[in-house]
Amino acid sequence: MITLEGIEGAGKSTQRETLATTLTELGIPFLQTREPGGSPIAERIRALLLDPAHKGLCAQAELLLVFAARAEHLDQTMRPALEAGTWVLSDRFTDASFAYQGGGRGIPAESITGLESLVQGELRPDLTFLFDLPAEIGLKRAKARADLDRFEAETLEFFERARQVYLHRAKQEPGRFRVLDATLDVEQVGRHVRQALIDFVTRMQSSGQ
Ligand SMILES: Nc1ncnc2c1ncn2[C@@H]1O[C@H](COP(=O)(O)OP(=O)(O)OP(=O)(O)O)[C@@H](O)[C@H]1O
Ligand SMILES: [Mg+2]
Repeated sequence: MITLEGIEGAGKSTQRETLATTLTELGIPFLQTREPGGSPIAERIRALLLDPAHKGLCAQAELLLVFAARAEHLDQTMRPALEAGTWVLSDRFTDASFAYQGGGRGIPAESITGLESLVQGELRPDLTFLFDLPAEIGLKRAKARADLDRFEAETLEFFERARQVYLHRAKQEPGRFRVLDATLDVEQVGRHVRQALIDFVTRMQSSGQ
Protein backbone atom coordinates (compact mmCIF):
# COMPACT_ATOMS: atom_id res chain seq x y z
CA MET A 1 0.00 0.00 0.00
CA ILE A 2 1.39 3.35 -1.08
CA THR A 3 -0.17 6.56 0.22
CA LEU A 4 0.15 10.22 -0.72
CA GLU A 5 -0.15 12.77 2.05
CA GLY A 6 0.14 16.50 2.58
CA ILE A 7 -2.06 19.53 3.04
CA GLU A 8 -4.33 21.04 0.36
CA GLY A 9 -2.57 22.05 -2.81
CA ALA A 10 0.62 20.14 -1.95
CA GLY A 11 0.51 18.27 -5.26
CA LYS A 12 -0.71 14.82 -4.19
CA SER A 13 -3.13 14.32 -7.06
CA THR A 14 -0.64 15.74 -9.56
CA GLN A 15 2.12 13.36 -8.44
CA ARG A 16 -0.23 10.38 -8.19
CA GLU A 17 -0.06 10.42 -11.97
CA THR A 18 3.74 10.19 -11.87
CA LEU A 19 3.52 7.22 -9.50
CA ALA A 20 0.89 5.53 -11.68
CA THR A 21 3.02 5.98 -14.80
CA THR A 22 6.09 4.59 -13.02
CA LEU A 23 4.22 1.56 -11.66
CA THR A 24 2.89 0.85 -15.15
CA GLU A 25 6.42 1.02 -16.59
CA LEU A 26 7.60 -1.38 -13.89
CA GLY A 27 4.82 -3.82 -14.81
CA ILE A 28 3.27 -3.72 -11.33
CA PRO A 29 -0.52 -4.17 -11.20
CA PHE A 30 -2.07 -1.41 -9.12
CA LEU A 31 -5.28 0.35 -8.26
CA GLN A 32 -5.63 4.11 -7.75
CA THR A 33 -7.98 5.32 -5.09
CA ARG A 34 -8.54 8.19 -2.67
CA GLU A 35 -9.78 9.14 0.77
CA PRO A 36 -12.20 10.04 2.02
CA GLY A 37 -13.97 7.89 -0.57
CA GLY A 38 -12.83 5.05 -2.78
CA SER A 39 -16.03 2.98 -2.64
CA PRO A 40 -19.67 3.89 -3.37
CA ILE A 41 -20.76 4.48 0.24
CA ALA A 42 -17.42 6.05 1.20
CA GLU A 43 -17.83 8.52 -1.68
CA ARG A 44 -21.22 9.52 -0.28
CA ILE A 45 -19.62 10.09 3.12
CA ARG A 46 -16.95 12.17 1.36
CA ALA A 47 -19.65 14.41 -0.07
CA LEU A 48 -21.04 14.94 3.45
CA LEU A 49 -17.58 15.75 4.80
CA LEU A 50 -16.58 18.21 2.09
CA ASP A 51 -19.89 20.07 1.70
CA PRO A 52 -19.26 23.71 2.78
CA ALA A 53 -22.91 23.83 3.92
CA HIS A 54 -21.95 21.45 6.77
CA LYS A 55 -19.89 24.14 8.45
CA GLY A 56 -21.08 23.22 11.94
CA LEU A 57 -20.13 19.52 11.79
CA CYS A 58 -18.58 18.72 15.18
CA ALA A 59 -15.02 17.39 15.36
CA GLN A 60 -15.98 13.98 16.76
CA ALA A 61 -18.63 13.44 14.09
CA GLU A 62 -16.07 14.41 11.46
CA LEU A 63 -13.53 11.92 12.83
CA LEU A 64 -16.09 9.11 12.99
CA LEU A 65 -17.32 9.82 9.47
CA VAL A 66 -13.74 9.72 8.17
CA PHE A 67 -13.23 6.32 9.77
CA ALA A 68 -16.67 5.08 8.68
CA ALA A 69 -15.67 5.91 5.11
CA ARG A 70 -12.30 4.23 5.66
CA ALA A 71 -13.94 1.03 6.95
CA GLU A 72 -16.03 0.85 3.76
CA HIS A 73 -13.08 1.73 1.57
CA LEU A 74 -11.00 -1.04 3.14
CA ASP A 75 -13.79 -3.60 2.98
CA GLN A 76 -14.98 -2.87 -0.55
CA THR A 77 -11.85 -1.73 -2.33
CA MET A 78 -8.50 -1.90 -0.58
CA ARG A 79 -8.45 -5.31 1.09
CA PRO A 80 -9.84 -7.19 -1.93
CA ALA A 81 -7.18 -5.57 -4.14
CA LEU A 82 -4.31 -6.23 -1.72
CA GLU A 83 -5.43 -9.84 -1.26
CA ALA A 84 -5.40 -10.29 -5.05
CA GLY A 85 -1.78 -9.05 -5.15
CA THR A 86 -2.69 -5.66 -6.60
CA TRP A 87 -0.82 -2.67 -5.21
CA VAL A 88 -2.99 0.13 -3.88
CA LEU A 89 -2.10 3.77 -4.46
CA SER A 90 -4.23 5.96 -2.22
CA ASP A 91 -4.49 9.75 -2.34
CA ARG A 92 -4.60 10.26 1.48
CA PHE A 93 -5.10 7.65 4.19
CA THR A 94 -4.94 7.53 8.01
CA ASP A 95 -2.01 9.94 8.41
CA ALA A 96 -4.49 12.57 7.19
CA SER A 97 -6.78 11.79 10.14
CA PHE A 98 -3.91 12.40 12.56
CA ALA A 99 -3.02 15.62 10.74
CA TYR A 100 -6.52 17.08 10.22
CA GLN A 101 -8.72 15.72 12.98
CA GLY A 102 -5.75 15.45 15.39
CA GLY A 103 -3.54 18.47 14.61
CA GLY A 104 -6.20 20.58 12.95
CA ARG A 105 -9.18 19.93 15.23
CA GLY A 106 -7.32 19.03 18.40
CA ILE A 107 -8.62 15.48 18.92
CA PRO A 108 -6.10 13.48 21.03
CA ALA A 109 -3.91 11.14 19.00
CA GLU A 110 -4.81 8.21 21.30
CA SER A 111 -8.45 8.42 20.21
CA ILE A 112 -7.38 8.26 16.58
CA THR A 113 -5.00 5.38 17.25
CA GLY A 114 -7.94 3.47 18.79
CA LEU A 115 -10.04 3.90 15.67
CA GLU A 116 -7.06 3.01 13.49
CA SER A 117 -6.74 -0.36 15.27
CA LEU A 118 -10.47 -0.98 15.17
CA VAL A 119 -10.85 -0.28 11.46
CA GLN A 120 -7.51 -1.43 10.07
CA GLY A 121 -6.31 -4.11 12.45
CA GLU A 122 -2.63 -4.49 11.60
CA LEU A 123 -2.87 -3.00 8.13
CA ARG A 124 -0.60 0.03 7.58
CA PRO A 125 0.82 1.64 4.43
CA ASP A 126 4.17 0.27 3.22
CA LEU A 127 5.32 3.54 1.71
CA THR A 128 4.05 7.10 2.26
CA PHE A 129 4.98 10.17 0.26
CA LEU A 130 4.63 13.37 2.26
CA PHE A 131 4.44 16.46 0.08
CA ASP A 132 5.59 19.17 2.41
CA LEU A 133 5.11 22.88 1.90
CA PRO A 134 4.04 25.97 3.86
CA ALA A 135 0.26 26.16 4.26
CA GLU A 136 0.24 29.59 2.64
CA ILE A 137 1.59 28.23 -0.64
CA GLY A 138 -0.66 25.16 -0.61
CA LEU A 139 -3.79 27.19 0.01
CA LYS A 140 -2.88 29.66 -2.70
CA ARG A 141 -2.65 26.78 -5.17
CA ALA A 142 -5.89 25.21 -3.95
CA LYS A 143 -7.72 28.53 -4.17
CA ALA A 144 -6.53 29.10 -7.73
CA ARG A 145 -7.92 25.68 -8.69
CA ALA A 146 -11.65 25.81 -7.87
CA ASP A 147 -14.32 26.61 -5.31
CA LEU A 148 -13.24 25.80 -1.78
CA ASP A 149 -14.57 22.71 0.01
CA ARG A 150 -15.33 22.64 3.76
CA PHE A 151 -11.70 21.91 4.72
CA GLU A 152 -10.16 24.36 2.26
CA ALA A 153 -12.16 27.13 3.96
CA GLU A 154 -10.18 26.51 7.18
CA THR A 155 -7.57 28.96 8.50
CA LEU A 156 -3.89 28.99 7.69
CA GLU A 157 -3.20 28.00 11.33
CA PHE A 158 -5.34 24.88 10.93
CA PHE A 159 -3.21 23.73 7.99
CA GLU A 160 0.05 24.66 9.69
CA ARG A 161 -0.94 22.45 12.64
CA ALA A 162 -1.81 19.65 10.21
CA ARG A 163 1.54 20.12 8.47
CA GLN A 164 3.44 19.87 11.76
CA VAL A 165 1.68 16.61 12.65
CA TYR A 166 2.57 15.17 9.24
CA LEU A 167 6.23 16.15 9.74
CA HIS A 168 6.26 14.72 13.24
CA ARG A 169 4.85 11.40 12.04
CA ALA A 170 7.42 11.29 9.23
CA LYS A 171 10.17 11.73 11.82
CA GLN A 172 8.74 8.92 13.94
CA GLU A 173 8.57 6.53 10.98
CA PRO A 174 11.47 7.35 8.66
CA GLY A 175 11.35 3.88 7.11
CA ARG A 176 7.84 4.38 5.77
CA PHE A 177 7.87 8.09 4.87
CA ARG A 178 9.54 9.89 2.00
CA VAL A 179 9.31 13.62 2.65
CA LEU A 180 9.46 15.76 -0.48
CA ASP A 181 9.91 19.48 -0.87
CA ALA A 182 6.58 20.29 -2.54
CA THR A 183 7.56 23.91 -3.25
CA LEU A 184 9.74 22.72 -6.14
CA ASP A 185 8.23 22.72 -9.62
CA VAL A 186 6.06 19.82 -10.81
CA GLU A 187 8.84 18.22 -12.87
CA GLN A 188 11.41 18.36 -10.06
CA VAL A 189 9.01 16.89 -7.50
CA GLY A 190 8.07 14.26 -10.10
CA ARG A 191 11.71 13.22 -10.55
CA HIS A 192 12.15 12.74 -6.79
CA VAL A 193 8.89 10.80 -6.52
CA ARG A 194 9.81 8.54 -9.40
CA GLN A 195 13.29 7.80 -8.03
CA ALA A 196 11.98 7.09 -4.53
CA LEU A 197 9.43 4.65 -5.95
CA ILE A 198 12.02 2.87 -8.09
CA ASP A 199 14.33 2.55 -5.05
CA PHE A 200 11.47 1.14 -2.99
CA VAL A 201 10.51 -1.43 -5.65
CA THR A 202 14.15 -2.45 -6.11
CA ARG A 203 14.50 -3.00 -2.37
CA MET A 204 11.24 -4.99 -2.21
CA GLN A 205 12.37 -7.19 -5.09
CA SER A 206 15.84 -7.82 -3.70
CA SER A 207 14.37 -8.78 -0.31
CA GLY A 208 12.05 -11.20 -2.15
CA GLN A 209 8.76 -9.62 -1.03
N1 LIG B 1 4.99 21.53 -7.70
C1 LIG B 1 4.00 22.35 -8.07
N2 LIG B 1 4.24 23.64 -8.32
C2 LIG B 1 3.24 24.49 -8.66
N3 LIG B 1 1.95 24.13 -8.77
C3 LIG B 1 1.64 22.86 -8.52
C4 LIG B 1 2.64 21.89 -8.15
N4 LIG B 1 2.03 20.70 -7.95
C5 LIG B 1 0.72 20.90 -8.19
N5 LIG B 1 0.48 22.18 -8.54
C6 LIG B 1 -0.81 22.81 -8.86
O1 LIG B 1 -1.42 23.13 -7.62
C7 LIG B 1 -2.79 22.77 -7.62
C8 LIG B 1 -3.02 21.72 -6.55
O2 LIG B 1 -2.36 20.51 -6.91
P1 LIG B 1 -3.01 19.10 -6.57
O3 LIG B 1 -4.45 19.09 -6.94
O4 LIG B 1 -2.14 18.05 -7.14
O5 LIG B 1 -2.86 19.13 -4.97
P2 LIG B 1 -3.47 18.15 -3.90
O6 LIG B 1 -2.38 17.93 -2.91
O7 LIG B 1 -4.04 16.96 -4.57
O8 LIG B 1 -4.60 19.05 -3.24
P3 LIG B 1 -5.95 18.59 -2.46
O9 LIG B 1 -5.52 18.11 -1.11
O10 LIG B 1 -6.73 19.84 -2.33
O11 LIG B 1 -6.59 17.52 -3.30
C9 LIG B 1 -3.10 22.27 -9.03
O12 LIG B 1 -3.63 23.33 -9.77
C10 LIG B 1 -1.75 21.84 -9.55
O13 LIG B 1 -1.68 21.96 -10.94
MG1 LIG C 1 -5.97 16.20 -4.57
